Amino acid sequence: MLNISNVSMIYQKGKKEALKDINLNIAEGEFTALLGQNGAGKSTLINILAGNVKKTQGTVKIGGYSIDRNELETKKIIGIVPQDTGYDFVFTIDEALKKQSGYFGIKNNHEYIDELLAELYLTEKRGARLRDLSGGMRRRFLIAKALVHKPKILILDEPTAGVDIEMRHTLYDFLIKLHQSGTTIILTTHYIEEAEKLCKRIVIINDGKIIADEPKEELMETFSKEVIVEVHFEDELKLTDFEFLKEYAPQIEEKTKLQLKTSKKDLSKVFKKLADQNMAFTNLVVEKPKLEDIYLDIIKH
Ligand SMILES: Nc1ncnc2c1ncn2[C@@H]1O[C@H](COP(=O)(O)OP(=O)(O)OP(=O)(O)O)[C@@H](O)[C@H]1O
Ligand SMILES: [Mg+2]
Repeated sequence: MLNISNVSMIYQKGKKEALKDINLNIAEGEFTALLGQNGAGKSTLINILAGNVKKTQGTVKIGGYSIDRNELETKKIIGIVPQDTGYDFVFTIDEALKKQSGYFGIKNNHEYIDELLAELYLTEKRGARLRDLSGGMRRRFLIAKALVHKPKILILDEPTAGVDIEMRHTLYDFLIKLHQSGTTIILTTHYIEEAEKLCKRIVIINDGKIIADEPKEELMETFSKEVIVEVHFEDELKLTDFEFLKEYAPQIEEKTKLQLKTSKKDLSKVFKKLADQNMAFTNLVVEKPKLEDIYLDIIKH
């Protein structure tokens, strides 16, 4: 569906090598997260796919069409929700969506636009000028705009930045439904729990290079051999009382919580040691690392 081969990008301004030999193939129906720190190169890659930035090297095919030779065809296949929101501020939502439809030669799509606006909670605002929308509403408008021509691939560059938590969850449901109806989705976000909730594949880009590309489950599995055990007590704790657990790196948190690190397979040993000492704890929590912990781990190393 999307084939990116040996793509490099050097911005003349600042001589910045923003992408270094990127290879990425996305199959139809995937839901992929593209993660990375500020300046990693995510938007550069997305802007290349959108045709807004000309890559220095490499090939990109969208639905089999080369973005260099068949730009128009590729534009029909993808919808892009850009990170920066440079657009015609004086138009209303309705006008802007009509204009966008016209760009693709689509007429009489009122019903579909009504549907999109309803799903994105913008119906009430359809007559408002873009400059008068709140930041979160603008992001939702950009999603509607990207979907006007029913693209097979939707690429969203931080669609939930600045969107309130309730609306973010509404957007998650919207994206899940869109994915279920067959749309291939690529999402960049700094809310890692969002990627954990929505995406099936995680691609991490760091300083212009892909440093991880794995199915989410596998990535989580590789890292989830380590677990964190939190034991809660009534009374204040002294670290010296936990010498018998020293191989599990005991730490005291908030005075009454004991934190231990262990491998999954040693969990029962930890429980037994605690039981043997007749420790009267009030609660015990075993936590798997979250995608966020794993992400930070990968970025650091
Ligand atoms: N138009 C430009 N001219 C020169 N350098 C640029 C331009 N756009 C981006 N860069 C540089 O390219 C690098 C990658 O930027 P990019 O916007 O792709 O990062 P990003 O991963 O999207 O970051 P963020 O999470 O902050 O959105 C950065 O070092 C940035 O300064
Ligand atoms: Mg960006």
